Amino acid sequence: MPRTIIEPFRIKSVEPIEWTTRQERGQLLRAAYYNLFLLPAEDVLIDLLTDSGTGAMSTAQWAAIMEGDESYAGSKSYDHFRSSIQDIFGYRHVIPTHQGRAAERILFSVMCKKGDVVPNNTHFDTTRANIEFVGAEAVDLVIAEGKQPSLIHPFKGNMDVQALEDLIQRVGRERIPLVMLTVTNNSGGGQPVSMENVRRVSTVCRQNRIPLYFDACRFAENAYFIKEREEGYEDRPPKEIAQEMFRYGDGCTMSAKKDGMANIGGFLCTNDDLLAQQEKNLLILTEGYPTYGGLAGRDLEAIAVGVQEALHEDYLRYRIVSTAYLGNHIAEQGVPIVQPPGGHAVYIDARAFLPHIPPSEFPGVALAAELYLEGGIRSVEIGTLMFGAAAKMDLVRLAIPRRVYTQSHIDYVVEIILEVWKKREQIKGMKLSYEAPFLRHFTARLEPIEQAVAQPA
Ligand code: F0G
Repeated sequence: MPRTIIEPFRIKSVEPIEWTTRQERGQLLRAAYYNLFLLPAEDVLIDLLTDSGTGAMSTAQWAAIMEGDESYAGSKSYDHFRSSIQDIFGYRHVIPTHQGRAAERILFSVMCKKGDVVPNNTHFDTTRANIEFVGAEAVDLVIAEGKQPSLIHPFKGNMDVQALEDLIQRVGRERIPLVMLTVTNNSGGGQPVSMENVRRVSTVCRQNRIPLYFDACRFAENAYFIKEREEGYEDRPPKEIAQEMFRYGDGCTMSAKKDGMANIGGFLCTNDDLLAQQEKNLLILTEGYPTYGGLAGRDLEAIAVGVQEALHEDYLRYRIVSTAYLGNHIAEQGVPIVQPPGGHAVYIDARAFLPHIPPSEFPGVALAAELYLEGGIRSVEIGTLMFGAAAKMDLVRLAIPRRVYTQSHIDYVVEIILEVWKKREQIKGMKLSYEAPFLRHFTARLEPIEQAVAQPA
C-alpha cells in the first residue's frame, strides 16, 4: 500500500475562512478579554476549540436529511436511527436526546441518588456535574500512567481495575449504581481504553452485579486504536471491534456530535426494560416524545448514517494519522505534549511550554491567546482557569473537527505553534479581571500582567 495517507474524500461544498491581520487580532483579543470563547467565530482562521458538532457531513448524510420524517410520533426516521445504532451498539432500548449531557442527566436522575458513588476512568465535566447534581460522588480511577503527560503507553485511558475492586470493597456495591468507561478518555488526553481492560472491568461489574455503561462519544476512534495497538485485533474491522466492546456493557450515553458525525444529537441506550421506561418518562418531561427526544427527524437520519461512516477504516486511518501528524511534528521540535497524541486532539503541556509563568498566572490561557495572535488559531485552555487551583495540569487542547481541515491546514497550525515556541520566553502571564461564580472559563475576563518597568533614577 502507498505510504501517503490522504483525506478519503473530495470536497463538494466549501466554506471560506477569513484572514485577519496581526494588528486586528491584537484588538480582537483585547475586546474578548483574552478569553477565546468570547471571540466572534468569523475572526478565527482555524478553529480547534472543539471536535464537538463541528464536523463536516457527507453527501450521504445530506441526502438522508431530505428523507427526514418530521412526524411527532412513530417517525420512520426514528426506525432508521434505532436500527443503525442497534446494529453497532446492540442494546435493546435506544432513546434519542438533544446531545450527550441530556442523556447523562436522564441516566443519573434515574439510576443515582444522594450518597451514591459512580466510578469512571475519568469523568468528563458534564458527566461529573450531572452526577454531583443528584448528590452522588463522581470518582476517577484512571491508571497511574494516564496521569503522566510525557509517558508513552498504548492505553492511557484504562481504568485501574484493582482500584475499582478496592472501591467496591470500601463503599459496598449497594452504593455503586453503575460503573462508567469513557472511550476515548477525553479529559485524560483523548487516550483509548483496551479491550482487555473493558473485559476486566466488565467481569468485576458482573461479579458484583453492577451495570457497566459506556460514555461512548468517541467509540469509533477507540475501536481503531484497539485495532492498531492490541494483539489479536489487527485484522478485525473497526465495526466488529466496537460491537464486541459494547457487548461487555449494559448501556451507554452518547454525544452524536463526536463520532456520530452530526452537528447535534445524542442518545441513551440500555438493556434494562424498567430503567428504559423511567428514562422515557423523564425524556417526555424535558426532551420530547421517545421517537424524537428533542431532535428533528432529519437529525435522526444524519446520525443513523454518521455512526456507520465513523467506523469506515479509511476514514479512521486518516483521522488518527492526521491528529498524530500534528502532535508528532510539534513534539519533534521540543514542544511538550501529552504523549502519545490522542484520537481527537493534541494537548500541549502549557506549564512545560511556559515554565516562567506559574499556574496562578494561567499559562494555558496565555499560550492559547498567543496562538490566536500569531496565526488566528483558536484552542482551549484545560487547566487553572477551568478547574481553579485544583488543576493538576495546565493544558491547551487543539481539537480537530472531523473531515473539516486538510493537511495544509494542519501544516499551517504546526508552523504557527513552532513560531510561538521560538518566542516563548516573551509570553506574559495573565490575571483575572472578572470571574463568574461557577464554570468561570466560559465568561472570564483576563489581561496580560505587564512587567514593572524600572524607573530611570
Ligand atoms: N462525554 C464526553 C467524553 C465529552 O467529551 C462530551 C463533550 C460529553 C460527554 C457531553 O456531550 O457536549 O453533546 O453534551 N465534549 C465536548 C468537548 C463539549 O469539547 O470535548 P455534549
